[in-house]
Amino acid sequence: MGFRSDFLWGGATAANQYEGGWNEGGRGPANTDVMTKGSKDQARGATYTLPDGSRHLTKGVAVKDLPEGARFEVLDGYEYPCHDAVDFYHHYKEDIALFAELGFKTYRMSISWPRIFPTGMEKEPNEEGLKFYDNVFDELLKYGIEPMVTLHHFEVPLELTNQWGSWADRRTIDCFIRFCRTVFERYKNKVKYWMTFNEINNIYFGFLSSGVPGDDLQTVMQAAHPQFVASAMAVKIGHEINPDFKIGCMLAASRCTVYPETCNPADVQKAWEQASRQYFFADVQCRGYYPSYQLKYFERNGIHIQKESGDDEILKEGTVDYIAISYYRSMITAAPKQEGSDPLLLGVINPYLEATEWGIAIDPMGFRITLHNLYDRYQLPVMIVENGIGAADEVAEDGQIHDPYRVDFFRSHIQAMKDAVDIDGVDVMGYTTWAPIDIVSAGTGEMRKRYGFVYVDKDDEGNGSLKRSKKDSFAWYQKVIASNGENLE
Ligand code: BG6
Repeated sequence: MGFRSDFLWGGATAANQYEGGWNEGGRGPANTDVMTKGSKDQARGATYTLPDGSRHLTKGVAVKDLPEGARFEVLDGYEYPCHDAVDFYHHYKEDIALFAELGFKTYRMSISWPRIFPTGMEKEPNEEGLKFYDNVFDELLKYGIEPMVTLHHFEVPLELTNQWGSWADRRTIDCFIRFCRTVFERYKNKVKYWMTFNEINNIYFGFLSSGVPGDDLQTVMQAAHPQFVASAMAVKIGHEINPDFKIGCMLAASRCTVYPETCNPADVQKAWEQASRQYFFADVQCRGYYPSYQLKYFERNGIHIQKESGDDEILKEGTVDYIAISYYRSMITAAPKQEGSDPLLLGVINPYLEATEWGIAIDPMGFRITLHNLYDRYQLPVMIVENGIGAADEVAEDGQIHDPYRVDFFRSHIQAMKDAVDIDGVDVMGYTTWAPIDIVSAGTGEMRKRYGFVYVDKDDEGNGSLKRSKKDSFAWYQKVIASNGENLE
């Protein structure tokens, strides 16, 4: 009973939200570097210019109706929170020492693609960028922490977006594969665990997640196809380079955790359908083909996916070794009110659950249900690579950060994961919290929405010393790891 003896406890971050050093060490700009700061009430935007020299900001991160000749650029007078983020680039030794103190067995991070290929199109990689990650991996290995690397976490070289619309054009596959081959070769003796696309089903937020300038269903679904092909190619190439590599896909599983608002079969059908729109992404990567229900959905909605000959074989040959997921919340839906609505369902309140200040429903039972469903569906080991609570932590008068709500959140979710293992028999490989240290929020660009066990002194205006301090939850998670999840007190 309990978790495996080699259970991978740790924490997870993404380069664009953590690293900073956006224009240092030969790095090129990414889609995430033109994204401005938002808040829970105001969406982030992306800045661009037009051929007449005018300057613009998109409304939201799913870019719509972009005018002809638009070029995404960093412009004076805007705030771009990812540029400096919380500067892991210069603090990695200090931060990794804190991760070691927490007792991490693994640390999930992403490699910034434009740090290795600044425009995405170079034939040769940027040695300074490669060296940076060598240093990071060496530092982790020094403490016996296993690096776990996401190859594509929302970050695409901006030039690929400006030239080709990023993943909307399949030429991006070759650029991505050159990047994958480079890092697989370089780090083959340092990194064993990889995953291809972070939250691939979040391609519905085209620009934020993938640099795709468009959000209509045809554009988004077409852009997913080159990602599927690239992911499968990466799995195959990775295994050729090192047969010991474990390469997974990564699904935003909150979006599969959809409850019907009532037991009306029409609501139940709607919930099932909404979840299917999300499971589809893992189905392709775990099973190696487009499922029949999704082909029918495409047909009904006039979506045509352009494939090339050989793509179907590539998908079959490149199925993943494990399924990684993020889980933050559950959602609810109902047939009559939701007809033709946003497939992401944000904003519908579940009266049985508490929610965070950002309206995220807290649902540990939903976590267990989802783990069970995923394992049952794919019979692949499940790695939880994101789970956590964003909260507006404050430094108290005693100078400490007291975050009992974070401990409560993790206690209930780790217990639910344990139930999934002990009661439901799910094969869970490990668990990395989002995020062990405060970083920039992907959705809002805020610092105020903090997830860490480690507090970083930086506010939404960019002020602060970047000093790191331990919150109360730090010692709690340390105990959890030390007891392999037995001590949740
Ligand atoms: C996931 C992403 O969607 O959720 C992370 O993989 C992100 O990059 C996390 O940070 C939490 O979302 P947010 O918007 O609170 O940062």
